[in-house]
Amino acid sequence: MREKPNESAVDFGVSIADAASALRLSKLQAAALPPGWPPETFEAYCKSHNRVVLEARAGAHIAGLIVLQFAADEGEILSLATAESMRRKGLATALIRKGLPIAKSRGIQRLYLEVAEGNAPAIAFYRKSGFHEVGQRKNYYDLQAATAIIMRLDLSASKEFAAAVDHPPRST
Ligand SMILES: CC(C)(COP(=O)(O)OP(=O)(O)OC[C@H]1O[C@@H](n2cnc3c(N)ncnc32)[C@H](O)[C@@H]1OP(=O)(O)O)[C@@H](O)C(=O)NCCC(=O)NCCS
Repeated sequence: MREKPNESAVDFGVSIADAASALRLSKLQAAALPPGWPPETFEAYCKSHNRVVLEARAGAHIAGLIVLQFAADEGEILSLATAESMRRKGLATALIRKGLPIAKSRGIQRLYLEVAEGNAPAIAFYRKSGFHEVGQRKNYYDLQAATAIIMRLDLSASKEFAAAVDHPPRST
């Protein structure tokens, strides 16, 4: 049987990204979710008051990112991506675990996201992270005319939030 990497044993540094990371974040996102956003968008989001960009480092490289947006007591995951060579090692889990307490500290009660219905890895990841499906948007993705699944995590009832507080990823 293949031995699975133990996420708690993998030491990713997750931290709030600086605008100086914009180009590398843009390249990482374009590889994982083409066409991705231009560096200018990451630069603006890193400086924005109602958004948080987190980056996960593996050694000297940025290997994962998550972008959260907040409005009143609701938040949204605008983007989540990890480098292909680094998947299934707990990197996205580390990003979520860092992001949830930040969202909670901003007064967020519910966190939403949209994911293409054919994106099985992402849907499996979000389900494992405690999100559940609350709706659909037809033809949400212009190019593929694909349906978006809307998922939600209720932070106040979230075991994942409790785990994030109990076992936060290392900050760099
Ligand atoms: C979805 C994504 C962010 C997951 O990143 P990751 O770093 O591999 O995730 P983790 O290692 O933290 O995975 C945690 C759990 O999620 C689930 N999961 C993750 N990838 C999966 C896959 N390909 N198939 C099935 N389940 C998967 C598993 O339950 C996994 O736990 P396990 O490895 O112990 O079985 C990554 O595949 C990615 O960047 N995809 C391309 C971009 C994308 O689709 N982003 C989301 C857009 S909404």
